[in-house]
Amino acid sequence: MAEPFSFKYQLSTMAKERLDPSEIGVMIKLSIEHKAISLTAGEPSADIYPVEELKRAFGTIFEDPSLLAYAKEDFGLTELREWITERMRSDGMIPDWVTSRNILLTNGAGEAIELVAETLIDPGCTVLVEAPTFTETLLTFRKQGANCVGVPADDDGIIPEEFEKLLRSRSVRFLYTIPNFQNPSGRTSPLARRKEILAIAAKYDIPIFEDDPYHYLSYDEEAPATYLSLAGDDRRVLHSNSFSKLVAPGMRCGWLVVPDAIIPHLNAFRISAGLTRPAILQLGLYNYLSSVDFGERVGFLRDTYRVRRDGMVKAIEKHLKPLGIKTNYPKGGFFLWGEAQGIEDMTAFARFAVEKKKVGIIPGSAFYTIDEAKNGRGAFRISFAKVDPQTAEEGIKRLAEAFKEYR
Ligand SMILES: Cc1ncc(COP(=O)(O)O)c(C=O)c1O
Repeated sequence: MAEPFSFKYQLSTMAKERLDPSEIGVMIKLSIEHKAISLTAGEPSADIYPVEELKRAFGTIFEDPSLLAYAKEDFGLTELREWITERMRSDGMIPDWVTSRNILLTNGAGEAIELVAETLIDPGCTVLVEAPTFTETLLTFRKQGANCVGVPADDDGIIPEEFEKLLRSRSVRFLYTIPNFQNPSGRTSPLARRKEILAIAAKYDIPIFEDDPYHYLSYDEEAPATYLSLAGDDRRVLHSNSFSKLVAPGMRCGWLVVPDAIIPHLNAFRISAGLTRPAILQLGLYNYLSSVDFGERVGFLRDTYRVRRDGMVKAIEKHLKPLGIKTNYPKGGFFLWGEAQGIEDMTAFARFAVEKKKVGIIPGSAFYTIDEAKNGRGAFRISFAKVDPQTAEEGIKRLAEAFKEYR
């Protein structure tokens, strides 16, 4: 029998590169394999999905069978887009020019990132990102041909002087930033820093792409004003957001706030990648959102995750601090960023920790561009989203033992 067709010579470069499993995927898998305490995955805790409310909300979605046809509205269900607009308006997240026609519903914030990449990136162009940043975004931008360059960041996010230095030295297409409780570093840019970054972006006339899926998950104080609202009428900011962390990631519903100037382009790419998005699902989500008190839901999430953050921080103070391992204190989100002096290869250490001590973390280098991966050498990411305080205590104790043995 003839050999089946191999596709060996037809695969695109990116298809071959994407086949390399990401370090995040590897560590999540190894944590499961070794039955380890996993501090790896940046996803919400399944025990707090609003299952009963969703069952009720989805029970009525077939009442209007016209929603089973191809969706009529290019940008997604109007009711849901209006709900988002009102919510963002009452929370001061959008400037006056934003109406529901500027809201595009997407297949999670992931698709929003993909659409922006297709609309704004040409092969070879430079895109600035925070160093470190969300790995999937790096892959998406690279797939589109971007040369991603990391802007050095401190505890307050992107460092303005470094940002300007890079803008002076090259032509840049846009800046991508996760300003609140960043993935992976947990950092938040304070208002004054945002204003500085925005002023520099205006001086060099580049847009900002603000990815803000952790916006509502603040545990100490409200998140500072969005870049989108700060830019006001200037309209140089694109903003992506998501229901993944607020309702459930399997809903696959996110949104993008875009100025009129690029609506037709985004729409063209959206259509080419799967025509419409499921209006029937958007209706279920809308039914859910309009039947619950969203403020109460957010309050519940904040209370739940705050306990987990505090449990993790307490365990770290007890077990890692005496070893001289530094971590930051995130004011929201899911992540905490640590640095261990003297560990050159955190990837090798993470493998050691999961295999020998049964605790999974993500090595920091996973969140840098290929050229800059060495910058993440001694760093690691811990996710506390799914970890109760007792498990955090045990997990961090194991991690401390791993550091002691490995060093
Ligand atoms: C910063 C950031 N952007 C986007 C996403 C994608 O989220 P979604 O599930 O909405 O596609 C994530 C998910 O972890 C994220 O951390």
